[in-house]
Amino acid sequence: MSGIVYLNGEFVPAEEARVSIFDRGFLFSDSLYEVIPFYHGIGFRLEEHLERLKEGMRVVKMELNLDFAALCSEVVQRNGGGNRAVYLQITRGADTQRRVVCQTPLVPTVVIFSYPIAVALEGNLDLVKGIHAITTEDIRWRHCEIKTTGLLGNIMAIQQALESGAQEALMVRDGYLTEGSSSNLFVIQDRTIFTPATNELILGGTTRNLLLELASANNIDWQEKNLPASCLHRAEEVWISSSTRGVIPVLQIDGQAVANGQPGPLWRRMAELYQCFEKQLFDACN
Ligand code: PDD
Repeated sequence: MSGIVYLNGEFVPAEEARVSIFDRGFLFSDSLYEVIPFYHGIGFRLEEHLERLKEGMRVVKMELNLDFAALCSEVVQRNGGGNRAVYLQITRGADTQRRVVCQTPLVPTVVIFSYPIAVALEGNLDLVKGIHAITTEDIRWRHCEIKTTGLLGNIMAIQQALESGAQEALMVRDGYLTEGSSSNLFVIQDRTIFTPATNELILGGTTRNLLLELASANNIDWQEKNLPASCLHRAEEVWISSSTRGVIPVLQIDGQAVANGQPGPLWRRMAELYQCFEKQLFDACN
């Protein structure tokens, strides 16, 4: 990857950015991250992403006072603006050797880079490709609300999906659906949107929250609920959501079609509302 990245107070070419092998992010995944879309150079739900990061820092006791919003915007600007995803990572810092317990507080490592993306759900919704998913056991730790870079459980789940010819893994803990390997989950029954409540078993997705806000504002029924994996068999629709993808229909799960195997009417309605929300933001910025 080329371009300009931010590393510990400096903007440098990506090829020149170096982090120590004794960095706790590298050794222990003692580290948090965010992926934030910027459209037309403007952060999309930027405050919500930074709020989640702040909450994660509070839980894992990392302290750092930086203007992350300004730094992310500057990385985007220095790379030509436009539509880019910003990747922001903070680690507890680089030690001088490998030790589990830090003796003295370290200076956190901060890395911000960006790469081009398409605007989520832009254009003709008929062209949005639904995805196939598998279900798999959620083998992750019990602090999934923290956006840590310790993603091995998520990576093993998506690898399993790809090996089965699917594009996402829907994870199941103690018989109940939690979320996708890199997305939140929605199951539609009786024309109502059901989604697991936010707790320590799932990431509080910024896109999830936006979709629920849009549903409330448009009198679409939704409810947070524990969803047994078996509910997928009688679902009218199933969707996943994430920042860079928006909301995407799941058309097949474990080789079985979801309803008629086509994107459903409520997904289309939500996707239209999402597009309108984007358009209003873009218009306000021009
Ligand atoms: N992941 N759940 C998990 C486990 C995720 O990794 C993500 C996003 C989400 C959706 O969160 P949001 O709507 O705020 O993007 C839910 C990002 C995109 C990633 O790791 O690349």
